[in-house]
Amino acid sequence: MDVLHLRRDQKDWRAQTRVIALKNRLNSGERRLPACRSRQLAETGNWRRIELRAQKCCRQGCRQLQAGSLCSPSHDALRGVLSSPCRPCFAQRGPKVTIDMLMGNYHIAVVGATGAAGTELLRVLERRNFPVASLRAIGSARSAGKSVPFRGESVPVEKLDDRCFDKTDIAFFSAGGDVSRNYVPIACQSDAIAIDKSSAFRMEPHVPLVIPEINADDVRRHRGIIANPNCTTTVMLMALYPLHRIFHVRRVFAASYQAVSGSGTRGVEELTRQTRDAVHGPKSRTKPGSSTSPEATADKTIPASVPPKTRIYPHPIAFNLLPHIDSFLDSGYTKEEVKMQDEARKIMHSPALRVSATCVRVPIYRAHSVAVSAEFQRPLSVEQAREILSKAPGLELIDEPHSNRYPMPLTVAGKDNCQVGRVRLDCAFENGLSFWVSGDQLLKGAALNAVQIAELL
Ligand SMILES: NC(=O)c1ccc[n+]([C@@H]2O[C@H](COP(=O)([O-])OP(=O)(O)OC[C@H]3O[C@@H](n4cnc5c(N)ncnc54)[C@H](OP(=O)(O)O)[C@@H]3O)[C@@H](O)[C@H]2O)c1
Repeated sequence: MDVLHLRRDQKDWRAQTRVIALKNRLNSGERRLPACRSRQLAETGNWRRIELRAQKCCRQGCRQLQAGSLCSPSHDALRGVLSSPCRPCFAQRGPKVTIDMLMGNYHIAVVGATGAAGTELLRVLERRNFPVASLRAIGSARSAGKSVPFRGESVPVEKLDDRCFDKTDIAFFSAGGDVSRNYVPIACQSDAIAIDKSSAFRMEPHVPLVIPEINADDVRRHRGIIANPNCTTTVMLMALYPLHRIFHVRRVFAASYQAVSGSGTRGVEELTRQTRDAVHGPKSRTKPGSSTSPEATADKTIPASVPPKTRIYPHPIAFNLLPHIDSFLDSGYTKEEVKMQDEARKIMHSPALRVSATCVRVPIYRAHSVAVSAEFQRPLSVEQAREILSKAPGLELIDEPHSNRYPMPLTVAGKDNCQVGRVRLDCAFENGLSFWVSGDQLLKGAALNAVQIAELL
């Protein structure tokens, strides 16, 4: 018999969503929506032990689940799901697990805690007062001996290995696709819920891909892994989805302007180094006060004549634009551009949507922007669009072009909300609208969105 540790926070429905995830994991078959039965075994102090028996569903489409004595379904949204079970579903018995439920906070692991997205995640957990019982900061062997700050303390960084997820409730992954592919399954084996910021599992049919303002309900069908969408897609959808809900988007042309922190800390270092070298000369880091110091050489250097050394991008990023993010496919699009269509379809439950994107890396540190031209099924006006966008959750309308007010990376960086502006009827599309949306991709595109997902559990 498996024993799983289930945290129970203030809200009963958090426990219920976890039970639904267990139910999904216990039963095989993609399309089957099995029923599940539970009974209370014991209650000691803060702990409640329950037995959960999965039932193989004999009838496709059965959505019913019996709560039994697990806990009272206090959340309205779950009442329908937790109604009495479909009789035929109990004809066949499935495996069972025992779950210990504890009133308390979550044991958290952050893989990639020293990176750009991981560092931001720790700040967001702290800022949003996420109920953390314990925190494990995990990195590569390169981070051995380092520590990261969390709630006024120094948390030592552990080297990633198979034991890192013991007794972990939620594991945030932000260490790239290879690490996620290898270690997310290990975290799930340890009964942690993995919230993955890489692209490794995003398009797996059984993995919800979630932006809480758009498809929070999808979290309920997770089986241990929840994926955080691509950062540029997230920024675009924060403005596109509220319009889509009313006017139904058909196709989109988009051009992105993506900050170097989207490539992690190495992207930031590359822009800093190349900018300094281009302005002051490559030797500017040596001999302060000497004839080659920045002060002495600044007025003698012709920036364009000094090709900076490149480490992570194929060409210099300082004073340049790279119409190239991720690798090129046979179609001529890059993987990043294809993600904008594929992920948008999955998140918005809109399989016929067509998105043609050009993704561009720009020499700014933080916040991605997207110029969007969208064609809708229903006619719309600028006034209607502005009204909808001004009320959309997680979005701010900044659209006073005659006062030079529109979203910009510098004004949106460090903010939770994305910003939209330059809203206008598109002159090339029937029922078309063009707009410009900016968002901090380290926050809404990564850390903030991941923590918002965890808050849904
Ligand atoms: N940056 C963004 O805006 C953004 C947005 C959305 C999603 N993401 C996703 O978040 C992930 C991380 O991106 P990032 O920008 O934060 O990159 P980053 O700044 O380069 O950080 C990478 C992190 O991963 C760790 N790491 C790398 N290899 C590892 C290994 N073999 N074992 C354990 N830890 C390892 C690094 O640890 P060490 O310090 O020890 O090397 C570091 O903490 C990527 O999957 C990326 O797609 C990033």
